[in-house]
Amino acid sequence: MKFHSILFVTLSLPILFSPVAGMAASAAEESCRVCHKMDSKLIGPAFNDVAARYGKDKDAIAKLKHSMLEGSSGKWGTMAMPPNAGLTEAEAERFAHWIMSLNKK
Ligand code: HEC
Repeated sequence: MKFHSILFVTLSLPILFSPVAGMAASAAEESCRVCHKMDSKLIGPAFNDVAARYGKDKDAIAKLKHSMLEGSSGKWGTMAMPPNAGLTEAEAERFAHWIMSLNKK
Protein backbone atom coordinates (compact mmCIF):
# COMPACT_ATOMS: atom_id res chain seq x y z
CA MET A 1 0.00 0.00 0.00
CA LYS A 2 2.81 2.34 0.86
CA PHE A 3 4.35 1.83 -2.57
CA HIS A 4 1.10 2.69 -4.29
CA SER A 5 0.62 5.87 -2.26
CA ILE A 6 4.06 7.04 -3.23
CA LEU A 7 3.42 6.20 -6.84
CA PHE A 8 0.14 8.05 -6.67
CA VAL A 9 1.68 11.19 -5.23
CA THR A 10 4.64 11.15 -7.58
CA LEU A 11 2.47 10.72 -10.62
CA SER A 12 -0.18 13.20 -9.58
CA LEU A 13 1.89 16.20 -8.62
CA PRO A 14 3.00 17.37 -12.06
CA ILE A 15 -0.56 17.04 -13.31
CA LEU A 16 -2.22 18.75 -10.38
CA PHE A 17 0.13 21.69 -10.48
CA SER A 18 0.29 22.26 -14.18
CA PRO A 19 -2.17 24.91 -15.32
CA VAL A 20 -4.88 23.54 -17.58
CA ALA A 21 -5.88 26.62 -19.48
CA GLY A 22 -9.44 26.77 -20.62
CA MET A 23 -10.38 23.43 -19.17
CA ALA A 24 -13.18 22.97 -16.70
CA ALA A 25 -11.84 19.64 -15.52
CA SER A 26 -11.54 19.30 -11.77
CA ALA A 27 -8.26 18.41 -10.10
CA ALA A 28 -9.69 14.97 -9.33
CA GLU A 29 -10.49 14.41 -12.97
CA GLU A 30 -6.97 15.33 -13.98
CA SER A 31 -5.53 12.89 -11.46
CA CYS A 32 -7.53 10.01 -12.97
CA ARG A 33 -5.96 10.67 -16.33
CA VAL A 34 -2.55 9.84 -14.93
CA CYS A 35 -3.64 6.21 -14.77
CA HIS A 36 -6.67 5.93 -17.05
CA LYS A 37 -7.42 6.58 -20.70
CA MET A 38 -10.71 6.28 -22.50
CA ASP A 39 -9.95 3.46 -24.87
CA SER A 40 -6.73 1.76 -23.90
CA LYS A 41 -5.15 0.39 -20.78
CA LEU A 42 -2.64 2.64 -19.07
CA ILE A 43 -1.83 1.83 -15.44
CA GLY A 44 -5.52 1.21 -14.85
CA PRO A 45 -8.15 -0.17 -17.24
CA ALA A 46 -9.64 1.92 -20.06
CA PHE A 47 -12.87 3.62 -18.97
CA ASN A 48 -14.63 2.08 -21.98
CA ASP A 49 -13.62 -1.38 -20.73
CA VAL A 50 -14.86 -0.62 -17.22
CA ALA A 51 -18.21 0.50 -18.65
CA ALA A 52 -18.48 -2.65 -20.78
CA ARG A 53 -17.61 -4.95 -17.89
CA TYR A 54 -20.21 -3.47 -15.53
CA GLY A 55 -22.81 -2.85 -18.22
CA LYS A 56 -25.19 -5.52 -16.96
CA ASP A 57 -24.42 -5.09 -13.28
CA LYS A 58 -27.21 -3.29 -11.47
CA ASP A 59 -24.85 -2.45 -8.60
CA ALA A 60 -22.30 -0.91 -10.95
CA ILE A 61 -22.57 2.63 -9.59
CA ALA A 62 -22.11 1.51 -5.98
CA LYS A 63 -19.21 -0.78 -6.86
CA LEU A 64 -17.35 1.80 -8.94
CA LYS A 65 -17.87 4.46 -6.30
CA HIS A 66 -16.51 2.14 -3.67
CA SER A 67 -13.42 1.35 -5.77
CA MET A 68 -12.70 5.03 -6.38
CA LEU A 69 -13.09 6.03 -2.75
CA GLU A 70 -11.56 2.99 -1.05
CA GLY A 71 -9.16 1.80 -3.73
CA SER A 72 -9.26 -1.41 -5.73
CA SER A 73 -6.97 -4.32 -6.44
CA GLY A 74 -7.02 -7.70 -8.09
CA LYS A 75 -9.94 -7.03 -10.41
CA TRP A 76 -8.10 -5.94 -13.53
CA GLY A 77 -4.52 -7.05 -13.18
CA THR A 78 -1.54 -6.76 -10.94
CA MET A 79 -1.67 -3.00 -10.42
CA ALA A 80 -3.82 -1.60 -7.63
CA MET A 81 -5.68 1.71 -7.51
CA PRO A 82 -4.99 3.58 -4.28
CA PRO A 83 -7.95 5.31 -2.59
CA ASN A 84 -8.27 8.58 -4.49
CA ALA A 85 -7.32 11.13 -1.84
CA GLY A 86 -9.44 14.24 -1.88
CA LEU A 87 -12.15 12.70 -4.02
CA THR A 88 -15.55 13.52 -2.59
CA GLU A 89 -18.49 11.16 -2.48
CA ALA A 90 -20.36 13.44 -4.89
CA GLU A 91 -17.51 13.45 -7.38
CA ALA A 92 -17.20 9.67 -7.19
CA GLU A 93 -20.92 9.41 -7.89
CA ARG A 94 -20.56 11.72 -10.87
CA PHE A 95 -17.61 9.76 -12.28
CA ALA A 96 -19.44 6.46 -11.80
CA HIS A 97 -22.46 7.73 -13.75
CA TRP A 98 -20.22 9.22 -16.40
CA ILE A 99 -18.31 5.93 -16.87
CA MET A 100 -21.52 3.90 -17.12
CA SER A 101 -22.93 6.40 -19.63
CA LEU A 102 -20.14 5.38 -22.02
CA ASN A 103 -22.16 2.25 -22.79
CA LYS A 104 -24.87 4.32 -24.39
CA LYS A 105 -22.65 5.67 -27.13
C1 HEC B 1 -2.31 5.53 -9.43
C2 HEC B 1 -3.09 5.17 -10.62
C3 HEC B 1 -4.58 5.41 -10.58
C4 HEC B 1 -5.28 6.58 -10.36
C5 HEC B 1 -4.72 7.95 -10.02
C6 HEC B 1 -6.68 6.27 -10.58
N1 HEC B 1 -6.84 4.95 -10.89
FE1 HEC B 1 -8.58 4.00 -11.23
N2 HEC B 1 -7.61 2.22 -11.35
C7 HEC B 1 -6.23 2.06 -11.32
C8 HEC B 1 -5.92 0.63 -11.37
C9 HEC B 1 -4.52 0.02 -11.38
C10 HEC B 1 -7.17 -0.04 -11.45
C11 HEC B 1 -7.42 -1.56 -11.48
C12 HEC B 1 -7.62 -2.03 -10.04
C13 HEC B 1 -7.97 -3.49 -9.92
O1 HEC B 1 -7.41 -4.33 -10.64
O2 HEC B 1 -8.84 -3.82 -9.06
C14 HEC B 1 -8.20 0.99 -11.44
C15 HEC B 1 -9.57 0.73 -11.51
C16 HEC B 1 -10.54 1.71 -11.64
C17 HEC B 1 -11.95 1.44 -11.83
C18 HEC B 1 -12.61 0.06 -11.89
C19 HEC B 1 -12.85 -0.39 -10.47
C20 HEC B 1 -13.56 -1.70 -10.37
O3 HEC B 1 -14.16 -1.93 -9.29
O4 HEC B 1 -13.57 -2.53 -11.30
C21 HEC B 1 -12.58 2.66 -11.92
C22 HEC B 1 -14.06 2.91 -12.11
C23 HEC B 1 -11.57 3.67 -11.77
N3 HEC B 1 -10.34 3.06 -11.60
C24 HEC B 1 -11.81 5.03 -11.80
C25 HEC B 1 -10.89 6.00 -11.45
C26 HEC B 1 -11.20 7.40 -11.30
C27 HEC B 1 -12.55 8.03 -11.57
C28 HEC B 1 -10.06 8.02 -10.90
C29 HEC B 1 -9.86 9.49 -10.52
C30 HEC B 1 -10.68 9.99 -9.41
C31 HEC B 1 -9.02 7.00 -10.83
N4 HEC B 1 -9.57 5.79 -11.17
C32 HEC B 1 -7.70 7.21 -10.48
C33 HEC B 1 -5.29 3.06 -11.20
C34 HEC B 1 -5.58 4.38 -10.91
